[in-house]
Amino acid sequence: MATTRISGFYRLSPEERLELIAQARNLNGEEKQILSGAQPFSIRSADAMIENVIGVISIPLGVAVNFKINGVDRFIPMATEEPSVVAAASNAARTAYDLGGFHTSLSGSIMRGQIQIVDLPDPYGAQARIYEHKQEILDRCNAKDPTLVSLGGGAIDVEVHVIERAKEPMVVLHLLVDTRDAMGANAVNTMAEAVAPYIEEITGGRVVLRIISNLADRRLVRARAVFSAEELGGSEVVANIVRAYEFAECDPYRATTHNKGIMNGISAVVLATGNDTRAVEAGAHAYASVSGRYRSLTRWELNQDGNLVGSLELPMAVGIVGGATKSHPTARLALKVMDVQSAEELAACIAAVGLAQNLAALRALATDGIQKGHMALHARNLAVMAGATDEQIDLVVKMAIAAKDVRYDKILELTKQLQTGDVHGDGSDKQG
Ligand code: MEV
Repeated sequence: MATTRISGFYRLSPEERLELIAQARNLNGEEKQILSGAQPFSIRSADAMIENVIGVISIPLGVAVNFKINGVDRFIPMATEEPSVVAAASNAARTAYDLGGFHTSLSGSIMRGQIQIVDLPDPYGAQARIYEHKQEILDRCNAKDPTLVSLGGGAIDVEVHVIERAKEPMVVLHLLVDTRDAMGANAVNTMAEAVAPYIEEITGGRVVLRIISNLADRRLVRARAVFSAEELGGSEVVANIVRAYEFAECDPYRATTHNKGIMNGISAVVLATGNDTRAVEAGAHAYASVSGRYRSLTRWELNQDGNLVGSLELPMAVGIVGGATKSHPTARLALKVMDVQSAEELAACIAAVGLAQNLAALRALATDGIQKGHMALHARNLAVMAGATDEQIDLVVKMAIAAKDVRYDKILELTKQLQTGDVHGDGSDKQG
């Protein structure tokens, strides 16, 4: 396995970066064309994926480096429109690399399907009747998905919740399904719908909803890493990072933004791999408030060496089979770039990125603030919009930052000056 601890990756051109990844992952010419966007996702494929298609929208695909996860070096593909995210993840991962990188675990790959049963005069009696028929319920569900069962998955248990708080009491059957390498929504929803008439028969009630729950609390991914205090800027910086975490832990206004930063990394990998960003986001935010108060998804503390120990825990309903993970060529290749062979390995990478992303944000906030880093990338975006050539972009950015004026009109003015020869290559004004 080639190392992904690469300094100066950001200094390469997109073509050079792609070539480096292609060499490491044995990508062929067509695969390179797909990743580079030269062979775009076709409108025909888009039309087969959703409705009323008129086109496709492109989002930049970056690769974060320096990630060692459970002893394996990984390239992390990230699809995002937000500047700084990929660079921040790579930088934070670098500060953990020499201390062993990221370590993760997964609590399982079990998803919940919910079946809502109403019109029950005896909800607790219905609850007992469902438990008496547990095996028949599981058998009927598993008959709907022999492939999943042959792969070691399938419906494995039921839980029956009586909801007394509703206007009329209702019973909710939770079908616990091990979905293995699939995200599982299709498998779970199919089973829930198929078994519903039998549930009505057993309970004497009426089934209304039959749908997966995105609070995937039986599919929790956990990541931890130790980050070098020295590389982060010293003991004062790490102490401020811990203070920043405590702020989020105690204040939902801050926790929401703190967790949004985590999701900057997580959603970018989820999207790049064709997984369902909304499912993961809903699960993450619900999990952040399971205690009854919305809190930080990460924890930060110092170890005996004064280094920073970070940990993250959240539901991670992602798959590597089915849906867009297979039908979208770029998503399929993103999995290849990451070199993951199971949903568990994918979940591990996603959690590691979430943790790194959070550290990068807290470090920036606890030191220079985030605007400094953002501004350089923002200026790059504006320079591209203003029509600066590849050779001119760096200079325009440098001049705008030196002038402390990163607005589109200023960048346009600088670009025009450069193109009309009113400014020297070193950024100095000819007339000045
Ligand atoms: C910006 O997209 C994300 C941050 O606001 C996260 C944070 O505040 O922790 C920088």
